[in-house]
Amino acid sequence: MPPSVAARAISVLEANWTGSHTLPATGLYPHQWSWDSAFIAIGLRRVSPRRAGQELDALLAGQWADGRIPQIIFDPHRDQDYSPGSQFWQSRTMPGSPDVVDTAGLVQPPNHAWAVWKVHAADPAESTRRSFLERTYPQLLAWHEYLRTRRDRGGRGLASIVHPWESGTDNSPLWDDALARVPGTPQHVFERPDLLHANASERPSDREYGRYFWLAERYRDHNCDDQDTEYPFLLEDPLFNSLYAISELALARIASELGRDPEPHLRRASELTVALGELFVESIGSYGARDVTSGQVVAKATINGVLPLLLPDLPTAETLIATLLGPRFLGSGAQLVPSYDATAADLEPELYWRGPAWFNMAWLAATALGVHGRQDAAEELGQNLVRLADVNDFPEYVEPWIGSPHGTRRFSWTAALTLETLRHDGWGLFE
Ligand code: SER
Repeated sequence: MPPSVAARAISVLEANWTGSHTLPATGLYPHQWSWDSAFIAIGLRRVSPRRAGQELDALLAGQWADGRIPQIIFDPHRDQDYSPGSQFWQSRTMPGSPDVVDTAGLVQPPNHAWAVWKVHAADPAESTRRSFLERTYPQLLAWHEYLRTRRDRGGRGLASIVHPWESGTDNSPLWDDALARVPGTPQHVFERPDLLHANASERPSDREYGRYFWLAERYRDHNCDDQDTEYPFLLEDPLFNSLYAISELALARIASELGRDPEPHLRRASELTVALGELFVESIGSYGARDVTSGQVVAKATINGVLPLLLPDLPTAETLIATLLGPRFLGSGAQLVPSYDATAADLEPELYWRGPAWFNMAWLAATALGVHGRQDAAEELGQNLVRLADVNDFPEYVEPWIGSPHGTRRFSWTAALTLETLRHDGWGLFE
């Protein structure tokens, strides 16, 4: 008998496990990535809550004194295999960076408190034995405090990202206009080891990489201190801030479990939900990203702008459901949710975050539909997620309409969220 889908997903997570954490993919992404680890832990808890906890512990070991959880924790033996690596960041020379590991200076979307709660809930006895919530709660508080105090660069109560890599949706059309202001002339002669593992037509261009490196150098050369008043790339991403609000709801649960006051977290989640309201763009039936420098809200329909639907108390929920199920996204006949508006003239269905469907986004979209009582639509999306992951050997992403695989294969969060979808008890934030 051939192994089941679940067994195949587990074998991907086994192969990518290093002993302390899971690589997103052994070739293309040879270090530990922040939001990947949280998605991986969410699925891994279904087979090993203990290992899922270790995954998050390993990530939190990279936390800086200012509370930031870094985008990447580097494996020093693989520095030549990914760029920019630890030699570029030189994190240990920076004030407040951890002594024991090399990290990037940037961050990624804050899905961590959500993952911590889910890992705890998978086996509360194991979690309690390891004091998992007690140990991680102060670290998560410091992380959210960093976002609240250091990253509200627009002064409107939302966190700003300072680099496209921080969104996790690197070359999303949301960043194009702001990126056009950034010089494409870094000091560093950058290499592209990523192109040894994925087709160049499916990765950001050299033109974009020049700007990515310029920005990363500028941020690094200011000691990653978030004080650079002339810094040219500050964006309020609707997905980053939605995950931040969901993680506040998770912190409320963690606080209650520890006998602490959940109220500040519930209040913060409401404040973020209200602040997000300013990013809503009626004409696209979804949320845009605010470019803090120009003050403009970028009016492009992306998966980032649909996922505020995760928030239970969202006044625009019905509009967002119509957008998600309508012609810009699933109503276009897509099998999985495209990352960008299916009706856009510049849609590129095989190019990273400019059209392809990603499995974490499908999982988030199904969860969001479940939050708003649309279990049937969520279930249909979940079935497509499992099928397309399985027939394509757990790809990084797929062409949304044909379902053909792209990027790397045996990708950890695809495997983890397949497992989560197979084994969960219904679609919702805290199921
Ligand atoms: N997504 C980035 C890359 O492709 C890293 O965060 O390299």
